[in-house]
Amino acid sequence: MKILLFCFLFATITISSVAAENQLPCDLRETKHGSVCVCNKNYCDYLEQPELTDNNQIVVISSSKDGLRFKKTTGDLSSKNPITVEDKQFTDENFKAETIVVDQERAWLQLANISQRLFINASIKTYRISVRREQKFQNVSIFGGAFTGTVSHLLKQLPQELQDHVYKSYFHPDGIAYNSVRMSIGGSDFDMEPWAYNELPRNDLRLSNFTELDPRDLQKIEQLKRLKIVGQLEELKIMGAAWSAPLWMKSNDRWTGFGQLKSEYYQTWALYHLKFLELMRSKNMPIWAISTGNEPLNGVIGFFFVHFMSMGWTPWQQAIWLNDNLGPTIRNSTESKVLIFGNDDQRYTYPSWFRKMRSSRTNSVSFLDGLAVHWYWDELVGPQLIDQAHSDMPKKMLLNTESCIGDKPWQTHGPELGSWQRGESYMRAYTQDFGHHFNGWLDWNLVLDEQGGPNYVNNFVDAPIIVNATSRSEIYKQPIFYAIGHFSKFLPEQSVRIETRILNEGSPFTQLSVVGFQRPDGSVALIIYNGQNLPVDVALDDSRRGAINLRLPPRSWHTVLYK
Ligand SMILES: *[C@@H]1O[C@H](CO)[C@@H](O)[C@H](O)[C@H]1NC(C)=O
Ligand SMILES: *[C@@H]1O[C@H](CO)[C@@H](O)[C@H](O)[C@H]1NC(C)=O
Ligand SMILES: *[C@@H]1O[C@H](CO)[C@@H](O)[C@H](O)[C@H]1NC(C)=O
Ligand SMILES: *[C@@H]1O[C@H](CO)[C@@H](O)[C@H](O)[C@H]1NC(C)=O
Ligand SMILES: *[C@@H]1O[C@H](CO)[C@@H](O)[C@H](O)[C@H]1NC(C)=O
Ligand SMILES: *[C@@H]1O[C@H](CO)[C@@H](O)[C@H](O)[C@H]1NC(C)=O
Repeated sequence: MKILLFCFLFATITISSVAAENQLPCDLRETKHGSVCVCNKNYCDYLEQPELTDNNQIVVISSSKDGLRFKKTTGDLSSKNPITVEDKQFTDENFKAETIVVDQERAWLQLANISQRLFINASIKTYRISVRREQKFQNVSIFGGAFTGTVSHLLKQLPQELQDHVYKSYFHPDGIAYNSVRMSIGGSDFDMEPWAYNELPRNDLRLSNFTELDPRDLQKIEQLKRLKIVGQLEELKIMGAAWSAPLWMKSNDRWTGFGQLKSEYYQTWALYHLKFLELMRSKNMPIWAISTGNEPLNGVIGFFFVHFMSMGWTPWQQAIWLNDNLGPTIRNSTESKVLIFGNDDQRYTYPSWFRKMRSSRTNSVSFLDGLAVHWYWDELVGPQLIDQAHSDMPKKMLLNTESCIGDKPWQTHGPELGSWQRGESYMRAYTQDFGHHFNGWLDWNLVLDEQGGPNYVNNFVDAPIIVNATSRSEIYKQPIFYAIGHFSKFLPEQSVRIETRILNEGSPFTQLSVVGFQRPDGSVALIIYNGQNLPVDVALDDSRRGAINLRLPPRSWHTVLYK
C-alpha cells in the first residue's frame, strides 16, 4: 500500500514531459541482453534537434536502461526557486515544485523492486555540480565511425530504404549528426579479404599499376555520396589510414606477422598515399585527413595475437619516413591541405611514441596536425598519458580514431544485443576523453551483422547498429548508439568544453559523471551519467543561471540543454 501511495505522490511532481510531436519514438524490443530500437524500411526513430525557444527553457534529453531513448523533457527555469535545497525528501513541497523529474514512474518502480525497506527509508543523494562557463577548454568538432569494407558489403545487401535509415540515423541532424568517417587505404581486418593497391607488378617503385580506384572503393564512394545526400551533409570529413602496404614492399612478404616496410620503398609508400588522395579527389570525394598507419605496433610486438593486415613501425623508423618521405610528399603536392595524424595506436604508447620520434628526426612531429588514439586498453591505462602528450604538443588536434567492444579475451566476441552495460562503457569513455582535451571521436564499424562480422579473419566485435543479415529487413540500434548520440547529436562543430565539477563527489566509486560544453549559439549542453541503480538529484550551479535542479532515474544518461 505504501508503494502505491508513493507512486501517486511521485507522479504529481512532473513539470512537463510532453511526447514531442517532432519525434518518432524508438520501437523498443527486448533482447537477451537488454533492449534495442528496431528499424525496418518503413519505420525508424528520429528526434528533431530540440530548439530552446525562449531564454528560460530547459530541455533534458534522456536515455535509460529501462527503455528511455532520447526522451525529451522540457521545463522552465524562471519558475524555480533559486535556492538549492539539499538532502531533500520525497514529500518536501518546495522540492517538488522546483524539480524536473525525468521518468519518475520508472525510477520509482525500479527503486521499489530493490526492497521495500530501502524504498521507504532511502533518501536520494544530491550531487552538487558547478558549471563555470567562463572556463573554456578544447573545441569538439569531429564525430563519426568507420566505413570499412565490411560496412560497405553489409549495406549493399539491404533494401535502399534501410540503407538510408542507417545513413540518416548516423549523419542527419534528426539522427546523431555524425560529420566524419574513417576508411582504410586498401584493406583492413574488416574486409572480405586482405588487399592493397598495386599488389602487382612487384617491385614497382613508381606504382605503375595504381592508376585508378579499386571497385571496392568505387562502391564505397557511391555509398558515401548517398550518405551525404540522406544525411544532408555539405562536407563529410573522411579520414584515411593504411593497414598494410602490398606484400612486395614488406620485409616479411606477408599481410600479417612481424613485418615492416623495406627502406627502399619509403618514398614509394609516400607516393602510394598521395595517389590515393588524388584519385579520391578526382571522384569528388576528397580525403580530409590521413594517419601515418593503423596500429603500427601490431607488426612489431603485437603479431603474437594479431592475425590481420598490419605493418610494423617503430617510432624511430616512422619518424624517418614521415620526415623524409610522407611529410614532404604531401606538403609539396596539390593535397598539401590534407591533415596528417600520428600514432593511430593504443593509449599506452603515449606520450613516449612521439618523444622517440623526435629523438630520431627532431622535426618529424612538426608534420603532424594531430594525434590519433585507439581506446582499446583505456580501462587499464589512465588518461594521464594523454595529458602528457597534450602538454608536449598543445596545438595538435586530438582524436580517438577507433573503438569497439568485444575484442578482449574476457568479452563476448560479437554483439551483446541491447546491452546497456556496453553503452555505459562508451558513456564513461567519451566522458573521460572529452575531459582530457579530445576534439572528437571516430568509432569503429558503423554496422555489423548479428555475429559481429563478417570479415576474413573471423574477428567478431560489437557495433552501435546491428544489421539483421538473415532477413535483411531490420536493423537494431543498440544502447551504444544512443550513448554516442548524447554527445554527437547535440555538439555541433565549434562546440567548446566548459568547466564542470562535481563538488561532493564522496566515494571514489561514485557513478555519476558530467561533462559540459558551450555550443556555437551560446547555449550549454551538459552530458550527465547516472550509473547507479537509484535515482539521483543533481543540483547544478551555473555561473550565469544559478541553481537548476534535476532528478534523474537509475542507470540513465542525459543531455541537458539551456541558454
Ligand atoms: C518491478 O515491480 C513492478 C511492480 O511490482 C513490476 O511490474 C515490474 O515487473 C518489476 N520489475 C522488475 C525488473 O522486477
Ligand atoms: C525505516 O523507517 C521506519 C519508519 O520511519 C522505521 O520504523 C524503520 O526502523 C526504518 N528502517 C530502517 C532500516 O532504518
Ligand atoms: C594490375 O593490377 C591488376 C589487379 O588490380 C592485375 O590484375 C594486373 O595483372 C596488374 N597489372 C600488371 C601489369 O601487373
Ligand atoms: C618541396 O620540394 C622542394 C623542391 O623539390 C624542396 O626543396 C622543398 O624542401 C620541399 N618542401 C617541403 C615542405 O618538403
Ligand atoms: C579545434 O582545436 C584544434 C586543436 O587545438 C585545432 O587544431 C582545430 O583547428 C580546432 N577546430 C576548430 C573547428 O576550431
Ligand atoms: C533476424 O530476422 C530473422 C527473420 O525474421 C529472425 O528470425 C531473427 O531472430 C532476427 N535476428 C535478430 C538478431 O533479431
